[in-house]
Amino acid sequence: MNHQEIIDTTVAFVKQELQDAEGGHDWWHIERVWHTARSIAAKEKADMLIVELGALLHDIADSKFHDGDENIGPAKATAFMQSIRLPDEVIAHIVNIIRHISFKGGNNEKVFHSPELAVVQDADRLDAIGAIGIARAFNYGGFKNRAIYDPAIQPNLQMTREEYKKNTAPTINHFYEKLLLLKDRMNTATGKEMAEERHTYMEGFLGQFYKEINI
Ligand code: ADP
Ligand code: NI
Repeated sequence: MNHQEIIDTTVAFVKQELQDAEGGHDWWHIERVWHTARSIAAKEKADMLIVELGALLHDIADSKFHDGDENIGPAKATAFMQSIRLPDEVIAHIVNIIRHISFKGGNNEKVFHSPELAVVQDADRLDAIGAIGIARAFNYGGFKNRAIYDPAIQPNLQMTREEYKKNTAPTINHFYEKLLLLKDRMNTATGKEMAEERHTYMEGFLGQFYKEINI
């Protein structure tokens, strides 16, 4: 298979796998991350096939939606890539990207680095901030039936996970817990630059949000 055939086959597989996914982790998230990753990779030194496959396959079975099982995604991706006879070293690299892309509050040991992971991770993080990031956060909160905000639980940057129960934390807290931190965690110069505008937009949103509810 040539590059285009590999990508077309992978797109079809991913669309199929994500048919019933929650709106923030559906095919359209993958498509955005894929396109963003491609444009970052065009400006950075990275292997385009690895970047594209990594972006397309990074969320096919998010552990959040599979009882915390972090092996389902890598296993499904491996079976698919073997079925289209990709070389073992490509498969191993993509599995590493899938396993290491997630932001886990900074406490997971980073044991794998590659320019391609850096690009795909930046693209995934960019999709978690800005207007799309705001939409995804509230969609995820709705999916989990969480409050939009709760004045009894004041969000701030110093707040730790122990300070509120994870499952009842209002969605607005997620901005302080994660989304506002992403700008400074971008890997590539291109990603950093793209994050600025989206970050400023989120700060504007939060300012307006509190203005409207007077807190
Ligand atoms: P990634 O898939 O990039 O590792 P996550 O799966 O944690 O990151 O998040 C994916 C999307 O779901 C993001 O847009 C994120 O903001 C949203 N999300 C994750 N956890 C929460 C939460 N507790 N509240 C609101 N949104 C969340
Ligand atoms: Ni993602």
